[in-house]
Amino acid sequence: MSNHDTKTGFSHEKIETSNFLMIVLILFTVAFGGLVEIVPLFFQKSTTEPIAGLQPYTALQLAGRDIYTREGCYNCHSQMIRPFRAETLRYGHYSVAGESVYDHPFQWGSKRTGPDLARVGGKYSDEWQRIHLINPRDLVPESIMPAYPWLEKDLVGAEAMPSHMKALRTVGVPYTDADIAGATEAVKGKTELEALIAYLQVLGTHLK
Ligand code: HEC
Repeated sequence: MSNHDTKTGFSHEKIETSNFLMIVLILFTVAFGGLVEIVPLFFQKSTTEPIAGLQPYTALQLAGRDIYTREGCYNCHSQMIRPFRAETLRYGHYSVAGESVYDHPFQWGSKRTGPDLARVGGKYSDEWQRIHLINPRDLVPESIMPAYPWLEKDLVGAEAMPSHMKALRTVGVPYTDADIAGATEAVKGKTELEALIAYLQVLGTHLK
């Protein structure tokens, strides 16, 4: 039986026997399907609006976040709790998009050599974090996490903070003029370790 539609002159065989036509139409179909899934996310409230009570990072927390990315902590730690029972039992409430709207770039990731850190804020004391970052093996003997002893000695680059916060404001983070004006003073003399701990301690704490 032929699949030739004599009325319209259309033949599926034409597509099936032409590599070029087949490739073009497959690309078109996949691209269209992708756009239908992705584009609405840019306009949905649940993905574009902050959850109630979400605060932008303070200057110190923001400086800590920069150290987190500089040191590549994301190579081993995700910040994205998936909505599965095994995950929520271990880490707490699953991550929601509205928690990350002030994160540029977000740190979700999927690589988990170490545990997920999306809700690590408040899990340990500042002192625990300090000892752990200087040498993880002092607290977790079998740990393979690298030691970061220099963080205790290096000071945060305070002068860069106002322009950094200004840049974030242009992409929608609601920093006030006072936040920006006080940023240098707020982190002056702080070590990178203090900043990183301030960042870790706020992670995931806004969702009640
Ligand atoms: C080579 C992979 C690796 C890198 C890079 C890494 N970690 Fe880890 N991290 C681990 C592993 C494995 C553990 C679990 C053992 C332990 O607690 O030390 C861990 C544990 C942690 C914990 C405790 C989490 C919990 O819930 O118990 C924190 C906090 C943490 N890491 C922060 C960081 C920070 C901040 C950085 C970057 C400065 C970093 N890690 C870099 C592998 C890594």
